[in-house]
Amino acid sequence: MNALQKLLGWVDARFPLTATYKAHLSEYYAPKNFNFWYFFGSLALLVLVIQIVTGIFLVMHYKPDGSLNAAGVPVAFASVEYIMRDVDWGWLVRYLHSTGASAFFVVVYLHMFRGMIYGSYRKPRELIWIFGVIIYLVLMAEAFMGYLLPWGQMSYWGAQVIINLFAAVPFIGNDLSLWIRGDFVVGDATLNRFFSFHVIAMPLVLLALVAAHLVALHEVGSNNPDGVEIKKKKGEDGKPLDGIPFHPYYTVKDILGVVVFLIAFSAVVFFAPEMGGYFLEANNFIPADPLKTPAHIAPVWYFTPYYAILRAVPPLLGSQFPGVLLMGVAVLIFFALPWLDRSPVKSIRYRGPIYKWFLAAFVISFIGLGWLGILPATPLYTWIARILSVVYFAFFLLMPWYTKIDKTKPEPERVTG
Ligand code: HEM
Repeated sequence: MNALQKLLGWVDARFPLTATYKAHLSEYYAPKNFNFWYFFGSLALLVLVIQIVTGIFLVMHYKPDGSLNAAGVPVAFASVEYIMRDVDWGWLVRYLHSTGASAFFVVVYLHMFRGMIYGSYRKPRELIWIFGVIIYLVLMAEAFMGYLLPWGQMSYWGAQVIINLFAAVPFIGNDLSLWIRGDFVVGDATLNRFFSFHVIAMPLVLLALVAAHLVALHEVGSNNPDGVEIKKKKGEDGKPLDGIPFHPYYTVKDILGVVVFLIAFSAVVFFAPEMGGYFLEANNFIPADPLKTPAHIAPVWYFTPYYAILRAVPPLLGSQFPGVLLMGVAVLIFFALPWLDRSPVKSIRYRGPIYKWFLAAFVISFIGLGWLGILPATPLYTWIARILSVVYFAFFLLMPWYTKIDKTKPEPERVTG
């Protein structure tokens, strides 16, 4: 026994290091038929790490201060400009972080879509899905609060518009929005509390949720593109016949995903960090001015499907509440998915045409609403948004019906590769 083995033995007698490594990596059996869609969980983990590491470095120079400096520029805005121009590699750290925010949503949307096409939210994975949807909500809060920090015009007015939505809640609305802002308008108090939540509270919650997500995943095991439970068919050694050890097979496979992702990610960071105004908006390079409302206020692309739903709903007796409510329901309805789906099969491979048509309509409505949410709300666009909102909700609300009547194919006994 060499010194290293001795040390490992010493640790193992006090901490389950080898046992954990075996249980979650070298002897954790994952279905052998994972495809492209299974890259996005590990990529979401990668982006989470990128955001935390770059965030730590940004905080070293960023100042959450809404007061004006000697040049008449808000200190927070000036500190971001300082990072971009004067801090060594500061521009890179900032662009990695701002591009990372959008990349997070790209990856998470694809990750959620994979869950939808393969029925990964179904029994016994409801909790993996529920933790996932909570992660999604926290991620939205994290992105929204982070967006205020550069204290540009879009930061300021975007926050003003969104926080004002809370004022539409009956009875408690005004108090609620005042409580969130900490002032009668978005101001220094808002900036300070958003900073605190963005750098401490939300990341902690996010990390805890991701841990819970993975613990739940390892308890029941991964689903796969066939939607077959590999634990049902075990060999004489007690190992799933269609399973392979996560390490080395999927650790190596995931490296491929990481390399391809990093190529695309670096291309954006180095050549198009603003991404034509979709990742960083032109208005946000102008310091926040409480006296000058920009002509066109729109949230960042990952929020626009919900923003379009909000604008599509007409006000009731002068109150925006119905729109706010429907926007909230549009996000929260993802929680119900495991119980709305009544199909006898999980994967899209064995589902019938009705489900496929509904899913296609849902994807078109989500992308269409996202597109409309960026554009000004003209009467024509508002009507299109109304139709797409109906399609969006029909996908969920009619699901118990159409998944039951749809003609499915029999699920195979073993994975098909
Ligand atoms: C920070 C965000 C997230 C991270 C780091 C993360 C991480 C992961 C990882 C590493 C896996 C296993 C690998 C894979 O199946 O791709 C996984 C599986 C899964 N995740 Fe996430 N996830 C996140 C967000 C979400 C969200 C927002 C949802 C849904 C709303 C979700 C739903 C699922 C489901 C259903 C599975 C099991 C998939 C299957 O076995 O087919 N996750 N997640």
